[in-house]
Amino acid sequence: MPDAPRTTAGRRPLISGNWKMNLNHFEATALLDKLRYLVSKDDLAAVEVSVHPPFTDVRTVQTFLESEKVDIALGAQNCHWEDSGAFTGEVSPGFLAKLNVRYVIVGHSERRELFGDTDEWVSAKLKAVLKHAMVPILCVGETLDEREAGSTGAKVTGQVRAGLDGVSAEQVGAMVIAYEPIWAIGTGRTATTEDAQSVCASIRATVADVAGADAAAGVRIQYGGSVKASNAAELMAQPDVDGALVGGASLDAESFAKIVQFPLGGA
Ligand code: PGA
Repeated sequence: MPDAPRTTAGRRPLISGNWKMNLNHFEATALLDKLRYLVSKDDLAAVEVSVHPPFTDVRTVQTFLESEKVDIALGAQNCHWEDSGAFTGEVSPGFLAKLNVRYVIVGHSERRELFGDTDEWVSAKLKAVLKHAMVPILCVGETLDEREAGSTGAKVTGQVRAGLDGVSAEQVGAMVIAYEPIWAIGTGRTATTEDAQSVCASIRATVADVAGADAAAGVRIQYGGSVKASNAAELMAQPDVDGALVGGASLDAESFAKIVQFPLGGA
């Protein structure tokens, strides 16, 4: 049995598949059925894995993972901050918790850029996820214009501070932050490993400033943006990169399995 890979700081890597608005519930089951044969129990002991299907698939995916005893965590892509009420088209975090959802993405750049999620909403959603004993994956990241203007640090730090506002140090230490440069999402362009490491390190420094050293040591920071089997191992080797939020490459069982198996060197 291979040694469980840990980051240098001992955090267990988290590889999350964000399916976005892809895969209906039949296709979701077909993908997971392939995936469970491709990844071994040892793989899933070493690296934590979550999948984030569209809402219409969540119940089906829950049933599949639980009845087949597949050790993959169930995730969601978004939620509302209220428990219930007159919010047509929205999804309650409490309903997700009832389906044994463990991880909820909040503030994905597509939500922020296309659907108007503000820092204030993201903060409210993050607290709602915590209230229901689920784990938020707080997404942050800069646009290409912001990167070229040299404002990556200011943008990302501002988003982290806004997202963590009012959250206890203990909760911060148990959550996940995903650094996703917007210009690298779905474009095939990946940040260099040096850039990914340097922004993830600055996020950890911001967490230390906001919530203290223990929280900074515990929080897991994922990199996202065109992660694939061929670049996963190198990204994961960075001391402040504790996992990956994977979009396109999570829609194919073989490519996602190879990312999960990054300790074996990818393909
Ligand atoms: P990508 O998406 O892997 O397709 O670039 C990542 C994300 O948006 O979470």
